[in-house]
Amino acid sequence: MPKFPGALDGDAAVDTLTALVSSLNDAVDALQTVLQARDLPPFELDSANPHPLDSGLPDPVSWYARKAIAGLCSKIIATVQNPAERAVVVSNAWLLPVALNVVIESEPPVVDLIAEAGSSGETVGNLAAKTGIDAAKLRSILRVLTSESYFKEIEPGRYALNRPASVLVTGNAIGDLVSFTSGPSMRGGSVLSKALRHEGLPAGEKYEQTAFQLYHHKPLYPWMMENSRYLTRFHRGMTQLELYMDPGISSDYPWEELGDAVTLVDIGSGRGGLTMTLLKRFPEWKAVLQDREEALPAIKEFWEKQATEIVEADRVSFVAQDFFEETHLQSTDNAPFVFMIKNVLHNWPDEPCLKILRNLAPAAAPGSTLLVCTYMPAIPVPSTKHISVKEYFDQISGKDMQEIQEMHLPIPEPLWADWGYGSAYETRSGATMTGLLNAAGRDINDLRNLLQAASWEVVSATEMRSAASMIKAVKQAPAVLLN
Ligand SMILES: C[S@@+](CC[C@H](N)C(=O)[O-])C[C@H]1O[C@@H](n2cnc3c(N)ncnc32)[C@H](O)[C@@H]1O
Repeated sequence: MPKFPGALDGDAAVDTLTALVSSLNDAVDALQTVLQARDLPPFELDSANPHPLDSGLPDPVSWYARKAIAGLCSKIIATVQNPAERAVVVSNAWLLPVALNVVIESEPPVVDLIAEAGSSGETVGNLAAKTGIDAAKLRSILRVLTSESYFKEIEPGRYALNRPASVLVTGNAIGDLVSFTSGPSMRGGSVLSKALRHEGLPAGEKYEQTAFQLYHHKPLYPWMMENSRYLTRFHRGMTQLELYMDPGISSDYPWEELGDAVTLVDIGSGRGGLTMTLLKRFPEWKAVLQDREEALPAIKEFWEKQATEIVEADRVSFVAQDFFEETHLQSTDNAPFVFMIKNVLHNWPDEPCLKILRNLAPAAAPGSTLLVCTYMPAIPVPSTKHISVKEYFDQISGKDMQEIQEMHLPIPEPLWADWGYGSAYETRSGATMTGLLNAAGRDINDLRNLLQAASWEVVSATEMRSAASMIKAVKQAPAVLLN
């Protein structure tokens, strides 16, 4: 096993590229071993069919191996590519969302036309004739995408669908989401650097002071209300995305440790899919779903259809509660609430988050539990012992998620602080919210400080097969003034 540059244990250090490639081989070996053991097909790029591991709950090794492979490949490119070339290519990366937007939003969508053509593909001439986009320009846009492995140019000017492009076709909820992220969100983001310098916007944390507002002359939510096509597609996309990005939340958190007689208060619940899964698993549990008044009818309808027995047994209540107002709930000594705020805090700057947290006070007796499920990229832990990619996968192989959580392994070298590009989803989610809503990505230190300021003390952070982590906090007793 090669040692990394600067390794101190006596073995000769190898160069960075060799170490990265060797680590990549180890991660690929770990992934292929799982495929063989589970009798799963190999990963394909050119086939438009999903791989079985593209949805559902993956085993832990394949979950982490795919992260490691993405992170290592990106580091290999950054190591060998001429920095001058890379700087220009990366600074032109706006072309990628724009090109995705072209193939999704053209009339009819280019991606649908290519999909309909099947494995023989579609010519750029036919695509141009059907969409009214100039053929040479469309081909140049499509080649931006093929260079990123979206579509395959099977002969000059003829394009076929492949697996990465398959999620963009009309009717796929991920395509719906990408129509927003690659369009209105991306256009708003194009002026983020101006917005951060407060050029054309007052300084502040209101969502009227965002890049989105600067570009669209409307804050995100009112803009969405006026653009119902995006609103519907965005919601559909977000709901589906959870299935791909957060498959392990219900299985990887030790929910049973919360106890038998739990009343789970789901704040900003949306449909409350996770809460529904938990109530089905724990027959003694009850839940209070809280959201904006206008969101409640759809939420109720979802539960009445999907969890009829739970609704009829009165184990769930639906409460209109603005989380910027003090909670209507009162704490009781015999059945303390467990609060859950899932995928909400990342949308808001610190002040509104503090309001949300402090507004729980009347219902949160000292000792109450709060679970915050949120994106939280890993950060460097300089004092940790380094382990190689091979050691990492040797140690987690055959283990379940709970055993892996208990090992507290560092992210293996040479990925260092986080999984690099392997956790791009988490890091980009935080920064996207800066452009849309004036929030910012938070790491564990930020979250600990935020929760502490509202008298919640962080007691654990659990990594799951999810882009999000689960932070558990306990309500502190009010400080006593000593004479
Ligand atoms: C990003 S979604 C998260 C939904 C859900 N917790 C989940 O994990 O899927 C944010 C939720 O917060 C709700 N919300 C937004 N503003 C709110 C407010 N002022 N009071 C209560 N809920 C609000 C939205 O209606 C939406 O359901």
